[in-house]
Amino acid sequence: MRGNQFRQGAVKEVAMSERARTIDTLLDERRTFAPSPEFLSKARVTDQSLFEAAAADPEGFWAEQAKKYVSWYKPFDTVLEWDLPFAKWFVGGELNVSYNCLDRHVEAGKGEKVAYHFEGEQGDTRAITYAELLSAVCRLANALKKLGIKRGDRVGIYMPMIPELPMAMLACARIGAAHSVVFGGFSAEAVRDRMNDAAAVAIITADEGWRRGGLVPLKRNVDEACEDSPTVKNVVVVRRTGNEVPMTEGRDHWYHDLVEGESDTCEPEHMESEDLLFTLYTSGTTAKPKGIKHTTAGYHLYAMFTHDLVFDIQPDTVYWCAADVGWVTGHSYIVYGPLGNGVTSVMYEGTPDFPAKDRWWSIIEKYGVTVLYCAPTAIRTFMKWGPEFPQKHDLSSLRLLGTVGEPINPEAWMWYREHIGGDRVPVVDTWWQTETGGIMIAPLPGVTVLKPGSATKPLPGIGAAVVDEAGNQVALGGGGYVTLTKPWPGMLRGIWGDDERYRETYWNRFGTQYFAGDGARIDEDGYFWFMGRVDDVMNVAGHRISTAEVESALVDHPAVAEAAVVAKSDPETGQAISAFVTLRAGYEGSTELIAELRNHVAKLIGPIAKPKWIAFTPDLPKTRSGKIMRRLLRDIAENRKLGDTTTLADSSIVADLQRRATEEEAKEQ
Ligand code: WTA
Repeated sequence: MRGNQFRQGAVKEVAMSERARTIDTLLDERRTFAPSPEFLSKARVTDQSLFEAAAADPEGFWAEQAKKYVSWYKPFDTVLEWDLPFAKWFVGGELNVSYNCLDRHVEAGKGEKVAYHFEGEQGDTRAITYAELLSAVCRLANALKKLGIKRGDRVGIYMPMIPELPMAMLACARIGAAHSVVFGGFSAEAVRDRMNDAAAVAIITADEGWRRGGLVPLKRNVDEACEDSPTVKNVVVVRRTGNEVPMTEGRDHWYHDLVEGESDTCEPEHMESEDLLFTLYTSGTTAKPKGIKHTTAGYHLYAMFTHDLVFDIQPDTVYWCAADVGWVTGHSYIVYGPLGNGVTSVMYEGTPDFPAKDRWWSIIEKYGVTVLYCAPTAIRTFMKWGPEFPQKHDLSSLRLLGTVGEPINPEAWMWYREHIGGDRVPVVDTWWQTETGGIMIAPLPGVTVLKPGSATKPLPGIGAAVVDEAGNQVALGGGGYVTLTKPWPGMLRGIWGDDERYRETYWNRFGTQYFAGDGARIDEDGYFWFMGRVDDVMNVAGHRISTAEVESALVDHPAVAEAAVVAKSDPETGQAISAFVTLRAGYEGSTELIAELRNHVAKLIGPIAKPKWIAFTPDLPKTRSGKIMRRLLRDIAENRKLGDTTTLADSSIVADLQRRATEEEAKEQ
C-alpha cells in the first residue's frame, strides 16, 4: 500500500510541476488564429453541424458516417454493442479493407490517380497509381495464399519505408490475415517477442533498409528472430539494397520470385466488421509490450473519417505524413486513411538530413505537397537547423500543417506556422494513441479557432474529459488526467491474448471512463493542453518507451544488479532516457561500460531506446516497501547539468541521493 501511495504522490507531483510550466507558457501565449478567409473559401466543414448531429444521436451519427465512408458487401444490423469495456461496432456487416482502399477507386474511374509518390532516400522515385497498387496487392495476396497463409492467420511485417510495406499490409487485409508490423528500427529480439506473442505464421521483410546512407540489416535480424520463433514457417524478402543476404531453403522466398506470374486479380475475402485487421505492439508500464487489437470496420471508418475532416481533404490534395508505417500514425495516416479516401500521398524512405538538411522542403516543392503531418520533435530539429533550409524552397503549395506524437510547445507551433506555413496556413495539433486508432482531440481547420500549443477540443462524436483522482471533471482552468468518456468506432478491442491486462490498464482506474495515461489542463474555453504521460511511459521523439522495458534490458547485462530509468526533458526529443545503474560486485563503472550498456539496450529493444545518459550509483533510493523513488531520480536527472554520459562516481550525486532519500522517508512516516 505504501508503495502505491507513494506512486500516486509522484504522479500528482509530476502533473503539478508540468502544470506550472504549462500555465506559464499559457500566460504569454494568448494568440489565437481563426480560420482565414482564404482557407474558408475551400474548406469542407465550416460550421458546427457535425458536432451537433453527433451530440444529438451518437449511434445514428456513426451509422451515417459508416454508410458514407465504407463500401459494404453486406450492411450492418447493429451500430454498437457496448459491454464495457468490450465494444462491437457495425455488427452483422461485411466488407474488405483492401477493396475499400483500392478496387472501389479503380471502379470509380480513378485508377490512373497516383496513390503514392515514393521517394527513396538515395533519390530513386516511383509513382504508383491506384490501378498499379491494386494489381501489386492482388499478386502478393495470391502468392501468400499459395504459401498456405489464410484468413485468421497473423503475419509479421518488418520493413523499411518502401511501397511494398503498404502492399504487404493490404495483401494481408485482402485475404483476411491480420498483420503485425514491427518498426524497422527495432531489434531481432523485439521481432522475436512480437512474433511469438502473436504466433505469426510468416514474416514479410526486406534484404536491408537505407538509413542516413547506412544499411539496416533487416533480413539478418529476421534470421536471428526466427531461430526462436517456431510458428514462423515462411519469410518473404523484398530486394531493396540488392546486397547479398543468406536465404534459408524452404523457408525464405524472394518477393519478386513469388509474385512473378501471379494473377493481378484476387477476390477479396468478405470480412466481418469485428474480424481482426491488425495488432500493433506498444509500450505500457511493464516490460512486456501490449499487442493492441484493431478490427476491420470501426477502425477503417475512423481512420478515413478523421483523415478526411482534420486534414480537410480536397480532390487535388497532395498529402504527406512523414511518420514511419511501423507506428500507428503510419498505419492510420499513410495507409488506411489516405488510401480509403482515395488521396495522393508522398511516401519518403529516409531521414530529413540526407543528403542535406533541406531534404523535406525539396520534397514538398517537388511534389507540390498541400498537407504535411509530422512530429514536434522534427519541428524542433528544424528550428535548431534554422529557417534558411526551408527558405531555399517554394513551399507555397502547402495549405495545412499537422503535428502528432507529443505535446508541441507554443514556440515550435509558431515556428512551424511561420517558417513552413508562410504565416498563412492552419496548424492542427492532433492528440491520439495507438489504442484510439485515430485522431481524438484536434481542430477542424475550417471551424476551430487555434491556440498555439493546444490540441483544442474533441472531434465530433468523441467524449473526452480532464478528471481528478476520483474521476470527477475538474473545473475549467484546472489540470488532471485525460479520460475518454464514450466508446468510438476506432477504439482498441483489447490486448492480444490478455483481456485482464486490458481492463486493468485502461478501465480499472476510473470505471466507466477510459484512462489514457496522459495529463492535461483544460482552459476556460474547454481547450485541452497536453502535458505528457502520468505513468511510467516515456515519450522520446514521439515514441512511447516504457521505463520498465529499458530497466529490464539493462538488468539483462551481466554487470548490472539493478537499474532505474526516468525521463529527463530534452529540447529536441521532448524527453530523453536517463538511467541510474547499480553494478554487481566485481564490476567498475567506466565510459566503456556505459557504451556497452547503451548498445545492450539497443540490441534488446532497438536504438531508439538507448539511454542518453547513464549514471552508476552504489544504491538506488527506495521507500521502505522497496519501491524505487522515481520522483527523486527524476529530480536529479532534471536539475543537474548532465552531459551525454556522466558517472555517479561523481560522489556528490550519490551523497545527494542518499540525503534526499532519507528526507523523503522521514516525510512519509
Ligand atoms: C502522446 C501516437 C500531446 C500522448 C499517435 C499519447 C501527444 C501518446 C499528442 C500516444 C499530442 C500523441 N499532444 N501528446 N498531439 N499525440 N501524444 O501510441 O502521451 O505512439 O498518450 O500514438 O503520445 O503515443 P502512440
